[in-house]
Amino acid sequence: AQTERDLLYKIHEVANTFFQEQLYDTEEGRNVGLAYFRERELKDSIVRKFQLGYSPEQKDAFTEYALEKGYSKEILLSSGLSIFPDNTPGGIDRFRERVIFPIQSFSGRVLGFGARLLRNNVKTAKYLNSPETEIYHKSAVLYGLNHSKQAISKNNLCLLVEGYMDVIAMHQAGIENVVSSSGTALTTAQIKLIKRLTENVTILFDGDAAGIKASFRSIDLLLAEGMNIRVLLFPDGDDPDSFARKHPQQYVEQFIRNEAKDFIAFKSEILLKDAGNDTIKKAEAIRDIVKSVSFVTNALKQEVYLKEISGKFRLSEQSLFNELGLQKQVSQ
Ligand code: UTP
Ligand code: MN
Ligand code: MN
Ligand code: MN
Ligand code: MN
Repeated sequence: AQTERDLLYKIHEVANTFFQEQLYDTEEGRNVGLAYFRERELKDSIVRKFQLGYSPEQKDAFTEYALEKGYSKEILLSSGLSIFPDNTPGGIDRFRERVIFPIQSFSGRVLGFGARLLRNNVKTAKYLNSPETEIYHKSAVLYGLNHSKQAISKNNLCLLVEGYMDVIAMHQAGIENVVSSSGTALTTAQIKLIKRLTENVTILFDGDAAGIKASFRSIDLLLAEGMNIRVLLFPDGDDPDSFARKHPQQYVEQFIRNEAKDFIAFKSEILLKDAGNDTIKKAEAIRDIVKSVSFVTNALKQEVYLKEISGKFRLSEQSLFNELGLQKQVSQ
């Protein structure tokens, strides 16, 4: 028998085809959607590869189409693709007048969609995403993984970026070992997906306050899973998308290789910039770094990291070990 899950997979496949047909086979799609992707300097081949699409302005374009195809109101509702407000007779589409990014599983099945506004505006969220459904668990999916898994294994390295466009632009630049947690904070389930392919992660987040905050959180989670990590924030408010479009592939690869720092160097650079000559702040910064070391699962690695901190700040290893012991008690 066809289960609810089967139907959800099916309707996402239908929707994915619909959004691509809208993009290529309608005037609105070509004038608005394809034009948008070209404005963002995406080649047609990469737009096809990532199965990008377009949801038209007409409020119920997809809902009508799916109902006509025999899909029920119930499945449209539980897929999150349609909304049925109390005060209107028919359903309306969740995604309207947006460009569409299908979110795929490890094996390439469509689980949900991200959808971007065509013009940034303050009133509406820039990206609208599918809600949690029976088949889409945000916290357990990495955007781009189906396209990137081979390159991640081959390079024995996973580049972790913030957004949909970062993954796609990096692929276009020839750098294919890249995934994104797509706006949600990185989770342990996502890290376990990466760990099947490699233990090495380089965090490439946006060079803004949100990017720094997210990288601090991600560092501790990754360390707790035994991953080896490096971190790089892009300069001058760039993100991987804008950076990869500004520079040739070789330069981007070299930049990542040379500029990505281990987490101790990364955290101390940021925390000490804030501290200046303030001794209290400096001590807090060191405690914060030792706190991250307390997440490291391997005792030998922990010792190596403490030695690095000891050298960097000219502190005795003994006092750092003592601090580590205290931090562990706190986190238990
Ligand atoms: P960013 O704000 O960095 O956007 O959010 P971006 O990826 O650079 O988007 P562009 O270049 O303006 O198109 C990073 C990611 O966070 C999620 C999206 O997955 C986005 O790619 N996000 C962001 C949302 O889910 N909703 C939002 O409103 C904003
Ligand atoms: Mn489930
Ligand atoms: Mn960002
Ligand atoms: Mn960004
Ligand atoms: Mn961007």
